[in-house]
Amino acid sequence: MSLLKLLIIGHGSQAKAWSTNLQKSNASVTIGLRSGSPSIAKAKESGLPVIELDKVKDISDFDAIILLTPDDSHLKVLELLPNKHREAQRIIYAHGYSLEKDYLHHRFPNFSHLLLAPKAIASEVILLHQQNKPIPAAFSLEHAINPASDLEVIQRIANSVGMTGRLIQTTFKEEMSCDLFSEQSILCSVLPRVIKLSYDTLVQNGVSQELAFLECCLESRYILNTLLKVGFPKFFDIISPNALIGANKATNKLFDEKFEQKFKDLFTDIESGKFYQEIESADIDTLRKKMVSLYSEGDIEVTRNTLQEYLN
Ligand SMILES: NC(=O)c1ccc[n+]([C@@H]2O[C@H](COP(=O)([O-])OP(=O)(O)OC[C@H]3O[C@@H](n4cnc5c(N)ncnc54)[C@H](OP(=O)(O)O)[C@@H]3O)[C@@H](O)[C@H]2O)c1
Repeated sequence: MSLLKLLIIGHGSQAKAWSTNLQKSNASVTIGLRSGSPSIAKAKESGLPVIELDKVKDISDFDAIILLTPDDSHLKVLELLPNKHREAQRIIYAHGYSLEKDYLHHRFPNFSHLLLAPKAIASEVILLHQQNKPIPAAFSLEHAINPASDLEVIQRIANSVGMTGRLIQTTFKEEMSCDLFSEQSILCSVLPRVIKLSYDTLVQNGVSQELAFLECCLESRYILNTLLKVGFPKFFDIISPNALIGANKATNKLFDEKFEQKFKDLFTDIESGKFYQEIESADIDTLRKKMVSLYSEGDIEVTRNTLQEYLN
């Protein structure tokens, strides 16, 4: 089988993870960056050849171009690519957002637009690969120009990155909505918020910091592992009577119709495009400072640092 020639654009979180994993496989990886990028030196340090996108004249040699820059940069990056490329050359996205929002398949119809989205944050993409565990992922061929050969390339790349489990077939829109929604409904909102709120409540009521951290944070990891291993119904079959009574009380107190409606509204805002506008008008630096400051309040971080032996 011929060596796959891949151009990864960007050298941020996912790009580093993909290129680290791909370097151990039978693929030739080049990194594409804009001129003057501070990432150029770092990519070279990792032993990867680098091309400067605004200087290079011809990219037709690559079997696929993998876009691993922030989603809001994809339109600019595609505009930067030289005209000399292959007919139906493959552009691979790791998220459905940019194509859905900016109609990139209409703007750049000569490319075959493909999705290969890891369902893991970048650090886990490296860790799971090191542990020989499959990285979950979804793919889409809905904007493929040559679906059969495009699928083969997607599968080869997925395999080399470590996405060796069953690839879930999806659409760009479905992947985008699902990913944005889960970030809002669980992963980046409720999960860190309720962990910190629970921890703070215990500490404010005199519980020791270490014990509060073990109960609220570390046990969340074990509970999630158990839910995944035994299943949701069985979990409620095996927890203690006190935990069961508490679960019932808190579920009734915390979750009501209003709460459920808020979840539905979050999804509606994504589906209707309202959330696109919120992204467009957001001041990322201010927002990041606000969230960092919110999670710097109290002593959860100090406590986390004292319990390092449990964290890896
Ligand atoms: N982060 C995750 O764990 C995760 C998980 C699943 C999917 N994804 C998807 O993976 C993709 C990459 O996300 P990421 O978080 O890895 O990105 P990231 O770390 O923020 O990407 C930063 C890299 O992109 C380059 N870059 C930024 N703007 C550029 C531009 N206009 N032209 C050329 N290069 C540019 C930066 O170069 P400079 O040094 O020049 O600024 C840097 O090398 C996104 O589609 C994202 O949705 C990410």
